Amino acid sequence: MGWHVLLPGLLLSLPLVTGWTTSKCLLTEGSQLPLVSRYFALCPVFQLSFLATCNSVTNLTETLAAVPQTVEGLCLSGSVSSLPPDAFSAFPGLKILGLNLHLTRLLPGALRGLGQLQKLSFLDGPFGKQSLFIPPDAFGDLISLQRLHISGPCLDKKTGIQLPRSLQRLDVVFSCLQDVGELAGMFPDLVQGSSSRDPWSLHMLDLSFNRGLKMARPGSLQGLQLETLNLDQTRLEASRVRALGLQKLNVLSAKLTAMAELPAEAVAHFELQELNVGNNKIGYISQEALASFHSLKTLHLQSTGLTKLPPGFLAAMPRLQRLNLAGNQLQSKTLCMNETGDVSGLMTLDLAGNGLSTLPPDTFSCLPHLRELLLQDNQLLSLERQLFQGLQQLETLNLDKNPLLNLGKNWLAALPALTTLSLLDTQLSLSPDPGFWESKSLRTLRLKLPSAPALTVLSLPMYLTSLELHGASGRKHWGLSPRVFPFLENLTIVGQGLRLEVQNASGVFPALQQLSLLQNSLEAFCSQDNPNIFPWQLPKLQTLKIWGAGSNFRPCLITGLPSLQELKLEALQSIIQPRSVQLEELVGELPQLRALQLSRTGLKSLSAAAFQRLGSLRVLVLDNEKDLVLHDSLREYSPQMPQYIYILQSNLACQCANAWMEPWVKQSTKTYIYMPNNKLCLAEEEGPAKHSLFSFLWDHCPQSLELKLFLASSSLVFLLITLPLLQEARNLWIPFLQALFRVWLQGRRGQGDEGKRFLFDVFVSHCRQDQGWVIEELLPTLEGFLPAGPGLRLCLPDRDFEPGKDVVENVVDSMVSSRVVLCVLSGQALCNPRCRLELHLATSLFLAAPFPPVLLLAFLEPISRHQLPSYHRLARLLRRGDYCLWPEEDERKAGFWAWLKSRLGQPGLE
Ligand SMILES: *[C@@H]1O[C@H](CO)[C@@H](O)[C@H](O)[C@H]1NC(C)=O
Ligand SMILES: *[C@@H]1O[C@H](CO)[C@@H](O)[C@H](O)[C@H]1NC(C)=O
Ligand SMILES: *[C@@H]1O[C@H](CO)[C@@H](O)[C@H](O)[C@H]1NC(C)=O
Ligand SMILES: *[C@@H]1O[C@H](CO)[C@@H](O)[C@H](O)[C@H]1NC(C)=O
Repeated sequence: MGWHVLLPGLLLSLPLVTGWTTSKCLLTEGSQLPLVSRYFALCPVFQLSFLATCNSVTNLTETLAAVPQTVEGLCLSGSVSSLPPDAFSAFPGLKILGLNLHLTRLLPGALRGLGQLQKLSFLDGPFGKQSLFIPPDAFGDLISLQRLHISGPCLDKKTGIQLPRSLQRLDVVFSCLQDVGELAGMFPDLVQGSSSRDPWSLHMLDLSFNRGLKMARPGSLQGLQLETLNLDQTRLEASRVRALGLQKLNVLSAKLTAMAELPAEAVAHFELQELNVGNNKIGYISQEALASFHSLKTLHLQSTGLTKLPPGFLAAMPRLQRLNLAGNQLQSKTLCMNETGDVSGLMTLDLAGNGLSTLPPDTFSCLPHLRELLLQDNQLLSLERQLFQGLQQLETLNLDKNPLLNLGKNWLAALPALTTLSLLDTQLSLSPDPGFWESKSLRTLRLKLPSAPALTVLSLPMYLTSLELHGASGRKHWGLSPRVFPFLENLTIVGQGLRLEVQNASGVFPALQQLSLLQNSLEAFCSQDNPNIFPWQLPKLQTLKIWGAGSNFRPCLITGLPSLQELKLEALQSIIQPRSVQLEELVGELPQLRALQLSRTGLKSLSAAAFQRLGSLRVLVLDNEKDLVLHDSLREYSPQMPQYIYILQSNLACQCANAWMEPWVKQSTKTYIYMPNNKLCLAEEEGPAKHSLFSFLWDHCPQSLELKLFLASSSLVFLLITLPLLQEARNLWIPFLQALFRVWLQGRRGQGDEGKRFLFDVFVSHCRQDQGWVIEELLPTLEGFLPAGPGLRLCLPDRDFEPGKDVVENVVDSMVSSRVVLCVLSGQALCNPRCRLELHLATSLFLAAPFPPVLLLAFLEPISRHQLPSYHRLARLLRRGDYCLWPEEDERKAGFWAWLKSRLGQPGLE
């Protein structure tokens, strides 16, 4: 290798730090999944202890190398055409694997070793069908697999893939199926062929969204036992299901298909328990069809164009419990028309969106077992008390989106079991009469307040546990009646300007655990008092969600909530008057806070001051926050930083203040940081060209970027610094480069021979002021022979340097021929230029050598990081055990020597 390539070669062999910009994977713990769930959207996962999702994967080996092997869920998207053997064998505990990789084939053994895998998904865009080859025995090892989900790719029709016996659910959706019979070629196990073995049974076979699926050869699924068959959004006539040859079927879903009439025969043949034929143009139910429905427990007929029900409709389905008739044009009277007094066991009835304007008193007279009644989105103006007379068991009533003006006096008394009532978007004028809410059972209420209230006292049921209030803006405050809601745990306030007259929130809502303030309702809180501090002190509050709608002009400090564990602040930035806030303007003293999510709040800077008041924070999510500055003070504070920091759809400002982040992220073992690698830093002046933060910092922040400064300057800056300092050092760079070359050469030669001999064991770099300590303490302890000392050979500049030789040359030579470089540091040493030079040289050799000597630092007195010259912050690059402080107390000195001796090892040999 010639000289011209040596230097760049050396620089390249240095540990260039690029760690945080290469990470493509987002890691999370199951309990935090809701905070980052949208990153798992392509690969829905249930709660697992530890999960990862990786985007833009092009090299699987490289990506997976960055994923901890303990993950239980792994979702990969990107572009990798084939899955190599043993692709995931490093992850034996994997339970869920989602692959959105545009795969075309799995090589044999690709899924080897995944004995615990429960769910496997192959996903692809729904458009532009891609074929996927799966070898017949690909799933051989997946003995725990419960769900196989193939969405998008098209399988070869003759592959003959063997399915694990543990499989409960098979989805082949958004695919190219045209005939159900093709499944038998893909998965021969499904069909009972000549082999006389036990029939297969599956909990679910999902063939939905196969838009070309319109055929079903008779006997296509001969012998299969199915709980549920899903044919939604296919073009298969549901009536063909009967001929498939299934041994069992309980639930059939065929929403939005080519259905012209109800699959009565199939219902009768399989004695189906559930039928979902919503969003089909049916229009009419014949008596013949109805006659075959007697087995149904659940029937979904939403948006099927029904205008009336056939006589005896409910009577024909004696087991029916759930009936969905939403989105039709039904007349209410058709339900309980039968005068015989027969009653139905129906428990859930959905009549939403039917244009109902009146409900005669006997509408539900035949439904005494009804628990849930959904009447939202109709034209109801009023409700008679008698209407509910028979509904003694009704628990849930939804009357949203009806132009309701009036509810009769004491109307709730007719519903003794009612626990949940929804009255959003009605015209109801609230009655001040306490009897209005006379219900001891009501627990959950959703209510819209009138915009022009006649009164300003809001009387509410007292025993509520959950309350959602929608308010139109108004100047007046609402007083509350009663004065205390002793059981209220969940309160949601929606809408700007809803002002509640609550002086002492902990007295009014002593049990409140969850509070949501949506659509600028925070404004009403924070403008009540002049200081911008959230006024409600709620001792039990655990979750606080605030969603503005882009019109908050001032930040509102959330503080003093001793039990708060989760805080979500979203869209608090005013769209008209964007402002910059600091974290300490948004959050104050929240000692139990575990998760903090900030999204579009206008946050610009984070500093240690804010984190100090958030002692329990584990997860920080910054989403859609532009040009963040993470203040340098965080560096000192970093051991207490949250374990997980997600910086999503956000970027760091292109400022030198952020420069500390990169080396820190690289070293940080306690904090996991996820920051997608695009849009780190958008350099303003450069027009559309996007700079990475890395290159910006490289170009603009040499001073603060200590490590890179160090790397880049270890040759050149070194020369510039030393030339004026050392006048005797002429031709300085030649010995230095020679030294580097020698180090490098030795390294290359010495690759094989382990027991390389050194002239010295320890090169002691120190300055004159510290010579006393070196001679009195260090020398006797290390050079003495056993049992007193280990008998090491030390190299001391004043004693062991060759006389007459250039100083720099001497230093370089001695360092190169020493096994360990020990830097003795004190405050004095750092003020002495020669000393600094020597230290610089030691550290540069340390980094330049392909097989670096061991570098140890001994501090003679505590030295703050700020005192260290920038290159000495390199100390932080060292492993923990590579530096130690010389103690003042005699009894602790033994510990220092023990450390030093253990790090220096045996004399002579490497
Ligand atoms: C993927 O990355 C690994 C490790 O970085 C490398 O060895 C391999 O050649 C890469 N594969 C491809 C196809 O680029
Ligand atoms: C009432 O229901 C019985 C069956 O329970 C049925 O035979 C009769 O036709 C129904 N009457 C009307 C008017 O629908
Ligand atoms: C609290 O109420 C809101 C709005 O009604 C609801 O979305 C949320 O699920 C409730 N939370 C709990 C824990 O019940
Ligand atoms: C608020 O109410 C609680 C409970 O009723 C009471 O203990 C507390 O003293 C009240 N605080 C103020 C400031 O009135």
